[in-house]
Amino acid sequence: MLSIYCTYLLKDIATIQMESGSVLIVLLVLLSQFIGVGANPTHLPPPYDKVDPLPFNPHGWFFDSNRIGLERLIKIRQIKIVVEVGSWLGKSTRHIAKKLPEDGIVYAIDHWRGSSNEDNSAFDMQNLYRQFLSNVIHANLTHKIIPLRMSSLDAAKILKVIPDLVYVDASHDFESVYSDLQAWFPFVKGHGILCGDDYYWGENLPVKHAVDLFAEENKLIVHDMGWFWYYEEKDLLPKKKA
Ligand SMILES: C[S@@+](CC[C@H](N)C(=O)[O-])C[C@H]1O[C@@H](n2cnc3c(N)ncnc32)[C@H](O)[C@@H]1O
Repeated sequence: MLSIYCTYLLKDIATIQMESGSVLIVLLVLLSQFIGVGANPTHLPPPYDKVDPLPFNPHGWFFDSNRIGLERLIKIRQIKIVVEVGSWLGKSTRHIAKKLPEDGIVYAIDHWRGSSNEDNSAFDMQNLYRQFLSNVIHANLTHKIIPLRMSSLDAAKILKVIPDLVYVDASHDFESVYSDLQAWFPFVKGHGILCGDDYYWGENLPVKHAVDLFAEENKLIVHDMGWFWYYEEKDLLPKKKA
């Protein structure tokens, strides 16, 4: 019905064009607004409003063990606020955001410069952040994902949120993992979950060594589900009766 009406309207406009080109332009603009052609009805929040989106790029390092582990924790622990440290092109970020309730939020922390332990020569590193933002726009998740373009340790100094879960997946060398754990454990201590990827990554298992050492020093139990790991605080476990 609408298209029939528009056809008639366009016919009329064509007649007007004979008389005046400028009137035609005004009418075409009005018409395009009326039928939605070329209109952008979505008002994206910053920083998404500034990006000229690239086509969707699905690349990422988010595999089944992480997906299943995170989904389980999100459901069982009724997770709403998540901090992700290391987002890359947002594969894990988008998955987590989709699994959260409608008012859930993921803070995606990354400097978008790549990790020291990765060979990034095959990627367009100049456009990493733009690609991340574009992917979130394509997934319609701009209302749930807040990017923070900075280093993990800087973000831990300025972020004023109480997350239910922190997912660590940034650089994988021992020192980086250990300092990420030190920086982010206080955000969840006593109430939330610290977890991450790549427990068995690398020949010398640097992630595992850092995760295990930090656990030992802080009375934490490490659970691993393949490469996905998470901590449980011994002090929060129900006390056994004497
Ligand atoms: C393995 S990728 C993350 C993969 C992502 N979670 C996914 O599912 O595809 C690691 C990311 O951590 C970021 N990164 C590494 N070290 C960082 C640091 N110290 N601070 C912030 N981001 C960092 C890199 O820029 C890279 O995007």
